[in-house]
Amino acid sequence: MARSLLLSIPVAKGHYNLFDSGRFISSGSLGGRIKMTRSWRFSSSIGRNSRVMMSAVSESPGKKRYAKIKSESAGPIPASELLQVVELAAKAGAAVVMENVEKPRNIIYKGATDLVTDTDKNSELAILDVVKKNFKDHLILGEEGGLIGDTSSEYLWCIDPLDGTTNFAHGYPCFAVSVGVLFHGKPIAATVVEFVGGPMCWNTRTFSASAGGGTYCNGQKIHVSQTDQVERSLLVTGFGYEHDDAWATNIELFKEFTDISRGVRRLGAAAVDMSHVALGIVEAYWEYRLKPWDMAAGALIVEEAGGTVTRMDGGEFTVFDRSVLVSNGHIHGKLLERISPPTEKLIRDGIDMSRWFKPKDYQTDF
Ligand code: IPD
Ligand code: CA
Ligand code: CA
Repeated sequence: MARSLLLSIPVAKGHYNLFDSGRFISSGSLGGRIKMTRSWRFSSSIGRNSRVMMSAVSESPGKKRYAKIKSESAGPIPASELLQVVELAAKAGAAVVMENVEKPRNIIYKGATDLVTDTDKNSELAILDVVKKNFKDHLILGEEGGLIGDTSSEYLWCIDPLDGTTNFAHGYPCFAVSVGVLFHGKPIAATVVEFVGGPMCWNTRTFSASAGGGTYCNGQKIHVSQTDQVERSLLVTGFGYEHDDAWATNIELFKEFTDISRGVRRLGAAAVDMSHVALGIVEAYWEYRLKPWDMAAGALIVEEAGGTVTRMDGGEFTVFDRSVLVSNGHIHGKLLERISPPTEKLIRDGIDMSRWFKPKDYQTDF
């Protein structure tokens, strides 16, 4: 139970976020005074990228709900129909990856360590083929091909034709094909085909979810774990290709959580990391600055498996945000108590955490 109102603090005109035990409660605009229970943590942003932390106490064990990331409506096309095509498309991409998994790679460098192979491109072509044949007027954002289609469409497909390219290039397990479709900017159907095994014994497993329909792995319903202690949790994170302040902050988080949990893994494929949270084999995963194609499918797969998805500052998540924390829900608040403050500091220090890759003119519900 939340405690009685104890504090009344003056606030400048601006935007506020309220957290209880690290759980996001509400946000809005205000001016004047705000009454709070002692267990609440309050942050306000007065002007872009300027946040002021007023207090950081966490006493209430009450389990708060976070906003759902899924779309409430599938629009004119039933979710089941969208999911069928999402699955077909992801499997078409996965067939291309499987055909090439034991063959020599043709590697091109996007950056010093950021790779792309012919397989990434050919997988995307196979996926596009399926999407365009079924929904010729939908908007598509593919990692390799960029934005194509009609920006007035209510649907946006987010395609990562090969997530974990570095692992694929080395023949190291942990890569996937990831396809998600959004309605008005929110996920409605998703598939991740994960490659498991290794050289001479490659196999796949398929994670699929639709908004309100649950998450399935190879046809069986799956659920996040029930673990409610960080010290009994296995965690996962990831590091992008840009080695700046956000990267350094996450190195610190990696150290901190390695110290207090059963361990922090770094697998190298965001869609796989999220699917593993949904499968209940790890408790949480976070990363800064992923792109919509990295997260659209995985985030819905976690939520539909009973998990929680927010930004790393605890705010409401969209696939266009530059940070993500997914968990089994039970440890979400405890993780945010440590992850949110350094993330808010990055924002205060001017690191751009605003939304990106949202196609101009694409209409969203936020
Ligand atoms: C990358 C992987 C990796 C993550 C990077 C992503 P890519 O995707 O998901 O785990 O740490 O931020 O860019 O380039 O292999 O598709
Ligand atoms: Ca990716
Ligand atoms: Ca990729």
